[in-house]
Amino acid sequence: MSGNIITIDGPSGAGKSTIARLVALRLGLRYLDTGAMYRALTLHCMLAGTHLDNPKEIAEAIKSADLSVELSLHGPMRVALGDNDVTEKIRTQEVTRNIHYVADVMEVRNYLVEMQRKIGEAGNLVTEGRDQGTFVFPNASLKVYMFATPEVRARRRHAELKARGTDTSYEEVLEDVSKRDYLDMGRELGGLKKALDAVELDTSELSPEDVAESIVKLAKNRLKMQTRKIDKNALEAARREDEERRKQK
Ligand code: DC
Repeated sequence: MSGNIITIDGPSGAGKSTIARLVALRLGLRYLDTGAMYRALTLHCMLAGTHLDNPKEIAEAIKSADLSVELSLHGPMRVALGDNDVTEKIRTQEVTRNIHYVADVMEVRNYLVEMQRKIGEAGNLVTEGRDQGTFVFPNASLKVYMFATPEVRARRRHAELKARGTDTSYEEVLEDVSKRDYLDMGRELGGLKKALDAVELDTSELSPEDVAESIVKLAKNRLKMQTRKIDKNALEAARREDEERRKQK
């Protein structure tokens, strides 16, 4: 590992993407969104007509996925299947609903973990997911485990849905959040759990900016990293993209 790697793991809805993006911008690191990789392979299987309840078929289907990702300092991570940019297409509810079939398959995890570690070889990375600190980068320079109560995450999600005019009750959203937690935590390989040496951050009552700033402080103190001023336009663009993305989930 030739440079610093910061891992950020936690359940969905804890605000990982926004925070990881802000940290990457402040520290001048690349940002890796590993959830997007699982989403892309799920989309590939869906497009290929794979029977998602058949792990063997999924393992076979991903051989032709030709997945590639493009990391940058400012923009979101771009994801492609062959020549097709699927960065936006992986954010549909249909993909979200089907991910667990694909993320549970050992061959999928091996394929993506290998890709993630290759990307990590160059260091200078903030990587976000469920298993980054525990399994993919056990020697990361700094590990963060982020969480917020299911109620807070459901409230945030419910407000977003309401703003879009989607008529779902808070109870339904809470049930959905709890179901995803159950699937993410129960996953035999790469299940969501805190690494023993991870710093725990409760994001329930804090703004993304505050959480990002506490991670940046840790990086400065522990890793002696330098910070940079965030370009206001890049920050605004990152915010808008995250907002769009949350709307689509
Ligand atoms: O972060 P996200 O919501 O885009 O992730 C989508 C799903 O992908 C998530 O429910 C579980 C799976 N995932 C995983 O199994 N391992 C990771 N490192 C990242 C995501």
